Amino acid sequence: MSSRNGGEPLVEIRNLKKYFPIRKGLLQREVARVHAVDDVTFAVREGETLGLVGESGCGKSTLGRTIVRLLEPTEGAVIFEGRDISSLGPRALRPLRRRMQMVFQDPYASLNPRKRVGSIIGAPLKIHGVAKSERRQRVQELLETVGLSPEHYNRFPHEFSGGQRQRIGVARALALNPQLIVADEPVSALDVSIQSQMLNLLDDLQKELQLTYIFIAHDLGVVRHVSNRIAVMYLGKLVELSPAEELYQRPIMPYTEALLSAVPIPDPDLSHQRERIVLEGDVPSPINPPSGCRFHPRCRYMTDICREVEPPLTDYGHGHLAACHHPLNVDKETLARVTVSERHTPAAADERAKPRDPGKEEAKPIPRSG
Ligand SMILES: Nc1ncnc2c1ncn2[C@@H]1O[C@H](COP(=O)(O)OP(=O)(O)OP(=O)(O)O)[C@@H](O)[C@H]1O
Ligand code: SF4
Ligand SMILES: [Mg+2]
Repeated sequence: MSSRNGGEPLVEIRNLKKYFPIRKGLLQREVARVHAVDDVTFAVREGETLGLVGESGCGKSTLGRTIVRLLEPTEGAVIFEGRDISSLGPRALRPLRRRMQMVFQDPYASLNPRKRVGSIIGAPLKIHGVAKSERRQRVQELLETVGLSPEHYNRFPHEFSGGQRQRIGVARALALNPQLIVADEPVSALDVSIQSQMLNLLDDLQKELQLTYIFIAHDLGVVRHVSNRIAVMYLGKLVELSPAEELYQRPIMPYTEALLSAVPIPDPDLSHQRERIVLEGDVPSPINPPSGCRFHPRCRYMTDICREVEPPLTDYGHGHLAACHHPLNVDKETLARVTVSERHTPAAADERAKPRDPGKEEAKPIPRSG
């Protein structure tokens, strides 16, 4: 969206883990853990939009919620404006809550049907002690900011269309002048015809209010035009991180290639040339994720090393990182020059396992499940 993408990091996550315990029996003993976010490191610069993509269950929402501290990290750090906020208690977090807000996917479920729009949008202001008279004025301004009318103040959510409800959700997120907005699939529940209006609104707001966005989506089509950079997640891991256009031109990780192949191309000539890769089966369970590269049971380039060794996040230059033993769209000479990113590579991965073989030569059909 914005072109101010050379700024300082606003938020950084370092080796972030979020595991959910699964408890059983009378004593509620922990019997297993969902590895929803598993050792993820990246930074989001002030004013940029980072698109965060991956299939359902990959950990996108958990990551977003942990960043804004709706969830407490299991391990690792969340650094906001240079300050580690990962272990702050509710009181210390309170002033920070103003600065980081979320917009949720489902505009139906996220608005209380019994509350009027004015009190929904005004709730964060009330919590933060803004006087009633001032609240009303601020809420009416916010309604205008998101393209609704100040007269909507006394209406109930059910009187609005899906797109309008999402605007109410955005107004509520903006109430306290945040710097960071984590938008969790903000257009997925909307009709295709109004998705672009919503994207345009978010874009305009970003420019006007100098916002930083983490924009979560499950498909790469939605985030293409709004993202400066894109992070791809698979089963709790960051598998590729790249400037947006570069990712669409030159996906390196086979999972990204598969996600991209599902994005419709408007040009029919190009669309013919491109192969649609059908990913078989669902994302495996994050309770007991596959060994080595977590994508290996579904990857058509998989070899023995993929089953055994978790690939390190390798730096391909220009801010393009990917975790794969058999990277795509790189030749042998390029591979000889690349370096492993110590900062981004999870502890469980093998930093010595620098990729050596380009992917296409090793191509194997996708193994069938079952
Ligand atoms: N509170 C919770 N308790 C236990 N498991 C959870 C909890 N929240 C999420 N999970 C699990 O963590 C994993 C990641 O979930 P998450 O919602 O973050 O994925 P997602 O990428 O946002 O998926 P979607 O596209 O469906 O929204 C899933 O296996 C999910 O079932
Ligand atoms: S080639 Fe191997 S390392 Fe790369 S994505 Fe496929 S299974 Fe993972
Ligand atoms: Mg989600």
